[in-house]
Amino acid sequence: MNEFKTMSSALSLLQTHRLVPVLELEDADAAIPLGEALMTGGLPIAEITFRTEAALESVRRMSGIAGLLVGAGTIINAEQARAAVDAGAQFLVSPGCFPKVIAFAAQAGVPIFPGVATPTEIGIALDHGQSLLKFFPAEALGGPAMLKALAAPFPAVSFIPTGGINPTNLAHYLTLPRVLACGGSWITDKSLLRAGAFDTIRDRTAAAVALVQEITATV
Ligand code: 3PG
Repeated sequence: MNEFKTMSSALSLLQTHRLVPVLELEDADAAIPLGEALMTGGLPIAEITFRTEAALESVRRMSGIAGLLVGAGTIINAEQARAAVDAGAQFLVSPGCFPKVIAFAAQAGVPIFPGVATPTEIGIALDHGQSLLKFFPAEALGGPAMLKALAAPFPAVSFIPTGGINPTNLAHYLTLPRVLACGGSWITDKSLLRAGAFDTIRDRTAAAVALVQEITATV
């Protein structure tokens, strides 16, 4: 457990796979089969969003899967961050740039990817020592064109765009030089989880992994 609990090991996995599946689990019993489906599909990364009652227990269970990098998403305050890390979360993701969450993550030694949508928020994240940032909500903010413009004044910053990304627009983001990885929920939509369709999730994962490889080979 916590085998990826350093910036460099989490980063190298993100850099290799370039995809962060965003998961909203309503039932912690799905955590293990879902984690295994992601692993079998070739994607050893999971972001469990703290939008459901089952999130904390799901982190606890999924982080027991060897070789899987499990993080907690939708972290909006330091209390949630602490609970997630105590449950085994190996990285944290926030929809916004929250200094108290960043301070907790720094003190706990856990990577944090704060969300940004404006130059001011990027400046705040940099002031707090963060340079790998979630661009959120990516499509609604203006997509790749907005991200390119936003990135220009901040050469030291890389991004994980998330929000509205799917197989039809993934390439538009992953081909931008400042994009390290993309986040998205399309691989594991709720109806598949509710139906326990883990084979379909595994196949979607494998298709997403193949698509990323194809896109990355062109840049
Ligand atoms: C998130 O929490 O990061 C986003 O809601 C994921 O966005 P998507 O569902 O549009 O992929």
